[in-house]
Amino acid sequence: MKNADELKQIFREGWRNADVVAHRVERFIDGEFGFEPSRRAWLEALSQATHKCDIRRALDMGTGPGTIAQIWAELGYETTGVDFSSTMLSAAQQAATRRGLSIELIEADAEYPPFEPESFDLVSSRALLFTLPHPGYAIARWTKLLRPGGILVLIGENSPTDPERIKRGFRPAPNWTPDDEYRSALHQMPLREHTDSFVRVLMEAVGIEEIRNIPMQSVIAARVEHDALDPPYGVLQGTPYIVAGRRAED
Ligand SMILES: C[S@@+](CC[C@H](N)C(=O)[O-])C[C@H]1O[C@@H](n2cnc3c(N)ncnc32)[C@H](O)[C@@H]1O
Repeated sequence: MKNADELKQIFREGWRNADVVAHRVERFIDGEFGFEPSRRAWLEALSQATHKCDIRRALDMGTGPGTIAQIWAELGYETTGVDFSSTMLSAAQQAATRRGLSIELIEADAEYPPFEPESFDLVSSRALLFTLPHPGYAIARWTKLLRPGGILVLIGENSPTDPERIKRGFRPAPNWTPDDEYRSALHQMPLREHTDSFVRVLMEAVGIEEIRNIPMQSVIAARVEHDALDPPYGVLQGTPYIVAGRRAED
């Protein structure tokens, strides 16, 4: 039985793979988030998540190529992205430069974020929880990084491994197949399969208040529009969710 560090090492190797990184950039930076109607829809949905909150510093955990970090930077927040894959971070830097955005990128384990308590107004994460050995500790630590009243925004997909989509050819990356060791490590992850309701419960458990789901109709409609142009292939995707809540005031 491998320990958490050994499991993370297996994932880290996978996320460092050049094909995986290139595919993530293609599907999300240049793909969904590069498609103007989708980008506008995500921007609007994420703005709703931070509505009525005074935000200066934002932190995106497991930022990958900077998919969500770019949106925070576009909204004018001083943004930091964390990832444990150096190759993802290089892609994030290149993608930010191409868009003229400034994002601080830090290589670190999202389960042990190297920041002072209460140093951010906003902490987000998209599509990371499923690959963490200890997502509960991670969310508790992210919450401590928020100032009281700061916003936690957790983003993911319900039913990402929908068998119908897998049949249509959705897979992690066309030139990369997870080996048995990787698959076995992934199956040991407690949130490998989860829904937004699990995420809400974890947020409640760490003292997040005013938890709400952001309406996603416009993001879904833009995906349908994009899918009609772009033959469906690539990263597993289900029905997107954004759950946002506020760290309790002391
Ligand atoms: C599915 S991708 C999501 C990337 C990005 N958030 C997005 O929405 O496009 C997961 C990312 O989390 C990173 N990751 C996985 N486990 C991590 C950990 N323990 N610490 C830091 N980053 C991690 C991977 O390197 C990868 O870039």
